[in-house]
Parts: sequence; C-alpha cells; structure tokens
Amino acid sequence: MARKPMMAGNWKMNNAIGEAVVLTQEISNNWWKDWEDKVDVVICPPFVDLKPVKTVLEFDKTKIFVGAQNVYWEEAGAFTGEVSVPMIRECGCDYCIVGHSERRGLFGETNEDVNKKVRALLGGRLKPIVCVGESLAVRDEGTTNEYVCAQVKAAFAGVDADDAAKCVVAYEPIWAIGTGRTATPEQAEEVCAAVRAQLAVLFGEETAQAMRILYGGSMNPGNVDALVAEPDIDGGLIGGASLKCDSFIQLVKAVM
Ligand code: G3P
Repeated sequence: MARKPMMAGNWKMNNAIGEAVVLTQEISNNWWKDWEDKVDVVICPPFVDLKPVKTVLEFDKTKIFVGAQNVYWEEAGAFTGEVSVPMIRECGCDYCIVGHSERRGLFGETNEDVNKKVRALLGGRLKPIVCVGESLAVRDEGTTNEYVCAQVKAAFAGVDADDAAKCVVAYEPIWAIGTGRTATPEQAEEVCAAVRAQLAVLFGEETAQAMRILYGGSMNPGNVDALVAEPDIDGGLIGGASLKCDSFIQLVKAVM
C-alpha cells in the first residue's frame, strides 16, 4: 500500500526558528513544485516557539505542519508547568509527539501516561506521533520486538481503528538517538515490521497498512535513502539533522 511519507523535525530544547524561515523561503521559491502532495513535513519546536513558527510558516503560505513535543492529558487545572491539548491546538498544532524516550527516561513518563496523552490528543482532534524504542540493554537481551510491541499495545489501549489511523508511530532505538550510531536498515525494518504486525493485531490489516511508521535515531542525509527504502519505514523523526535547514531539506527530498 502506498503511504504518504512524513519527515518530522523534533527540535527538542533548541531554537531553530531562523532555519524555519530559510526553509519556507526555499519552498516559497516554488522549486518544490507540488511537494505537499508527495510528503508531509512537520516541525516540532519547543512550546514557546509554536506560535512564532506557525506565523512564519503561514506568512509564506507553506503547508508545513507544526507539532508539539509533549502535552498533558487534562484540559485545564492545577498542573503547574504543563500545557494542554486546547493550548497547543490554539497555537496551530496539527501533531504532537508523545512518549519520546527522553520524556520516558528523564521525566518518568509511563506507558499509561502515553496512552492518556494519545487519547487526549485524539479527543482534541490532534494527531499523535507515538514514540517507541528499546535501550541497548533490551537489544542485547534479544527482546527488542517484544518490548517495543508492548509499548505500542499500551499506547493504543482504548483507541479504535478510525482514530488509530490518524496516528503516526516513530520507532526510535534509544541507543541511536543523538549518538551517530544509526540502526542499520535491516535492524530498523525488522522492528518497524513487528510494529506494523502489532498494529494489525490491534486494528486489522487495512488500518495497520495505512498507518505511517517513522524511524528516528541519527537519521541524516548520508543514511536516509537506505532506511526509507525499507518497506515498513515511511519517513523519519529527526533531531539533530532538523536543526539545520540544508540537512532537513535533504531529508525531505529523500522521501519525495
Ligand atoms: O525525536 C527524534 C530524535 O530523538 C532523534 O534524534 O538527533 O538522533 O536525530 P537524532
């Protein structure tokens, strides 16, 4: 089944708004003719830059989507420091990353937290980008597929097939994030195929085949072609290489 590729940039706690300006200028120069029919491009800045980035993208009328990097599942209330689904929607978001390994590892986010966020986002008409991935210890134990599929199953508890079809899954082996040690295409495909099989068990084959599965973890212009050539890899969730316009453009063009 032909799935529309996606290239999403996770800026993490970095400000790259100048790069977003350059990116929109590149696109508005129209040398990306009909690009938006070929790829979905998402930029995920820190909360404080959501509106400024949306403004930049709208100024040049590009069809780049904006996503948040996290969200809380309650609509409002005494949750100091948190940001709600209505708040990020009001900033112009269409997508939201949930369950990134840095939030799981650094901030104790659980599978149950991720599931609450997925359901809150879907309830608020936003699209979750659900991150899953194993540590090197899990990979060395040989239980990667079981571990990652358990994360997928937990993240989508109580979600129906119609809503699941709106979601994206990002497989990000923790040992590849920010390390320059990218998973081989074979390693990444094996896990992404296992994720798709788990999605088929949960939602049926048609929905599983329609959902996009991204790879993340030191994806860059030098390795993107071999990774996205794999049948179950539909694009990338990019950290470091999304902070510079020229490298991010190369990644986007690689999937067009
Ligand atoms: O969410 C994407 C990120 O975790 C990947 O980071 O720097 O390895 O591309 P990086």
